[in-house]
Parts: sequence; structure tokens; C-alpha cells
Amino acid sequence: MINTVDAKHNLHSGIFHPVLRQWQSPNVEITVNNLMYPIFISDEQDAKEAIASMPGVFRYGINHVRKLLQPLVSKGLQSILLFGVSKHLKKDHIGSNADSVQNPIIQTVPLIRQWFPNLLIACDVCLCPYTIHGHCGILNEDGSINNKASIERISEVALAYAKVGAQIVAPSDMMDGRIGAIKKKLIETGLVNKVAVLSYAVKFASGFYGPFRDASQSAPKFGDRKCYQLPPGSNGLAARAAARDVSEGADMLMVKPGLPYLDVVRQTKDAHPEYPMFVYQVSGEYAMLYHGAQNGAINLKNVLNEVLLSMRRAGADCIITYFTPLILDMLQPKS
Ligand code: PBG
Ligand code: ZN
Repeated sequence: MINTVDAKHNLHSGIFHPVLRQWQSPNVEITVNNLMYPIFISDEQDAKEAIASMPGVFRYGINHVRKLLQPLVSKGLQSILLFGVSKHLKKDHIGSNADSVQNPIIQTVPLIRQWFPNLLIACDVCLCPYTIHGHCGILNEDGSINNKASIERISEVALAYAKVGAQIVAPSDMMDGRIGAIKKKLIETGLVNKVAVLSYAVKFASGFYGPFRDASQSAPKFGDRKCYQLPPGSNGLAARAAARDVSEGADMLMVKPGLPYLDVVRQTKDAHPEYPMFVYQVSGEYAMLYHGAQNGAINLKNVLNEVLLSMRRAGADCIITYFTPLILDMLQPKS
């Protein structure tokens, strides 16, 4: 007699064919809709500068952006996240050049809107690339954060990006109350129905940002960011941060970094299932996979695919990743 218990214990019968395997993971596939590509835009218009700590990633001047994006858009790229890099612009205590006419984001966004009318443009909003001290907000005399002045300034910068055509503004500064301050300005100017706010709601103080600070030349000149970014063990504060930003009107939520915080991704998605969930695979995660593969320890495409699936499984609707060009290639139908 056939023992039906044995039959039920046989898992191989459900996974011996690729189509069967796909049916076992119905909600965790990767498509172009699940990707957002971060790009560093330099104030040096002709620059295409390699970033030593992020091999394969560059700082692009405005004159390179069109030919960078063209092939990616052809392969299905749907959204980008822009970071301004200031090589020559003067830095000061309030980040004046975050939204000046010389700012590379202010100059580039209208052009990208023209060149690629269907591409969705998100802009990172922060002061650290433009402040003389490299911190994300405005400081008091004693070096502590002046929160009120910071959110006033950050909401001004967000509004400036919105006015030149950013469809998403994404504040990464972690000041208290910035989502509400930004929403207020968007409402006052009548832009609220044309601009989404993607909150870096749950951003941990992480060693994984090291390569990025080199890329965007935004490392703090003294101290660290532990007084405004979340302590790595703090899942309670993570829950409060997400709930707070939801209550202030965030349209989408982010957890950052990704891989070391997938439990927090799941916790946040479960608490706010109505909100699109973003996960940022940050610079250190990129470098880790890149170098691991480069040194022969892992196969990049295999492991990358696995990591992306882990993020989707944890609840990510969209993954912000420097690997986007490679993933777009991986997604092309095999001929
Ligand atoms: C700065 C900012 C950081 C990142 C995005 N915006 C670094 C930091 O907070 O120190 C990290 C992105 C990455 O590491 O890829 N506001
Ligand atoms: Zn910052």
C-alpha cells in the first residue's frame, strides 16, 4: 500500500521542472518594476569618473547622462534615484548649493524629463553633499543638530527639486518631522498631487555606507551620524520611525541597508501593508558582492539573484540597486 505520508514528504515532485519551480515562488519574482537605479550626478559637466570604492559605478556629468540612460530605458528601466555630487560648488553651513541654479540635480532633472518622458525620476534630498561639515542637517554651535532649521531647509530643497520636475522626493537626512514639513510645502504650492514622498523612514547608522560617502564626497568631517540615524539593533525605534513617517504623509517607505535588515523589512511591510516598500541595497552591499565575485568566492549573477529574491520575500516592492544595469541584462529574454 502506498503510504500517503511518505508521498507528502516528497518535495522533489514539485520542483523538478523550471515552470514547477516558478509556481513555488509566485510572489517573489524580479521584474523591471521592482528596480530603481541610483545615479551620481556630478557638477563637472563632462565628467565620467570611476569611484574607487564602487568598481563599475561612476559619477556622471550632465553631458553623459543621456547616453548612459538610453540603453537602460530600452531594456525597460522605469525609475532612477539621483544624487548630486559637488566637486567645485562651494560648501557652507546650510548647504546653499543643494538647490542653487548651479546644482547638478536642478540642472539635470528637466533634461531627463525631456529626453525620457516615461522615466520616473526620484531625487535624494539631503544637505550632506553640500554642507561644509558633511552632516545631513544644520548644526548648532555645539555641533548638535538644529532640527527646526534643518527641516525648514530640507523641505525647501525638496520643493526646489519638485519644481524642476522630480516626481519623487526622497529625504535621506533622518531629521525629525521632515516628511510633514515637505508635505506642507507641496500642499501650499499645489504640487502635492504631482510629487510623491519616498521616506528613508528606517535608515540605520551603518558601516555599509562607506563606499557611498566616497562616491558622493559627503562623509562627515567630524563625529558620526549616530544621533540621527537608527541604532542597528533598534527594531522598536524602526517601527516608530515608519509609523511616524506614515502619519506625516509619506507615500512610500524605505528600509536601508537591505540585506542585514530583512527582518525589519518584513516587520515594516507587515505593519504598513498599504504602503509600497522600498529596500536600498547600499554601496557596501554592492561592494561586498562585487569583490566576493571578483575574488572567485561566489558567482555574481547567481548570488545577486538570490539576494534580490530574499528582499522580495521579506516584503520589498522595489529594490534600489547599483546592479540595475546588470539585472536588466539578466532579465532580457534569452534568444
Ligand atoms: C546621505 C546618504 C547616504 C546614503 C544615501 N544617502 C549615506 C549616509 O547616510 O551616510 C547611503 C547610500 C549607499 O551607501 O549606497 N544622506
Ligand atoms: Zn545626508
